Amino acid sequence: MDNRAIGYMDSGVGGLTVVKQALTQLPDEEIIYVGDTARMPYGPRPQAEVRDFTWQITNFLLEQDIKLLVIACNTATAAALPDLQAKLSIPVVGVIQPGIDAALHSKNPRVGVIATEGTVDSGAYAQGLASGKSDLVVEQLAAPEFVTAVETMDYQSETVAKIVENKLAYFKQHPVDTLIMGCTHFPLIETFIGQAMGPAVTLIDAGAESINVVEKILAEQDLKHALSVATKANRFYTTGSATHFGAIAKRWLEDDQLLVEGLAIKD
Ligand code: SIN
Repeated sequence: MDNRAIGYMDSGVGGLTVVKQALTQLPDEEIIYVGDTARMPYGPRPQAEVRDFTWQITNFLLEQDIKLLVIACNTATAAALPDLQAKLSIPVVGVIQPGIDAALHSKNPRVGVIATEGTVDSGAYAQGLASGKSDLVVEQLAAPEFVTAVETMDYQSETVAKIVENKLAYFKQHPVDTLIMGCTHFPLIETFIGQAMGPAVTLIDAGAESINVVEKILAEQDLKHALSVATKANRFYTTGSATHFGAIAKRWLEDDQLLVEGLAIKD
């Protein structure tokens, strides 16, 4: 048993989609979340810069004595996961391989990936899918507009639905049977993505899949939170506006009492 918290990091609110799955699947586990909203989006930034930002937030989370770290951001996973796993003594889970594994389990030979430009350019999904099944057809599409829409607009609005529909029209010419949402921001607009792709396309939430990996590690390494301890106090931090982040977080996690603290990251 280990009653320490699990740390989650993202460039903004996207990692809350991973947290939502964790709240359902691992309800006894305490959460410490950092959204680096002041420096989002990570997608257009060079990999070295994203790696530096990820380390800065990781160091803050390590100071909070976390027992496991989830890089709840695909761009940060692509840029920093191997480095973090090599240097940290706690388990570190990313969100890319779980999405690849879920897609490889599906029978479908044509897989689409929507992600940030940083994730697409890293080749992490394309290489991982190809090494799992060499005959897969992989269609990748960078959709950075979706990140901005989720962070800055009413993500449930008709305007956002239209942005999604226009962007995903790409797949009319490049049909797929399975679509990996390779950015943790995208499940917030999953309804619109599903409507644009149609019911025949299976959507994979790579971030949510990562919680299966977390659950397995907690069991294998005897790291589960003791059920009898009732002192769980989830904490949410943002480097940007706590009011703005809090409004999205409360709505997405359906928790009016959720508190968000500001965090100044030191370089
Ligand atoms: C972004 O900040 O561009 C989105 C990060 C991600 O989830 O890939």
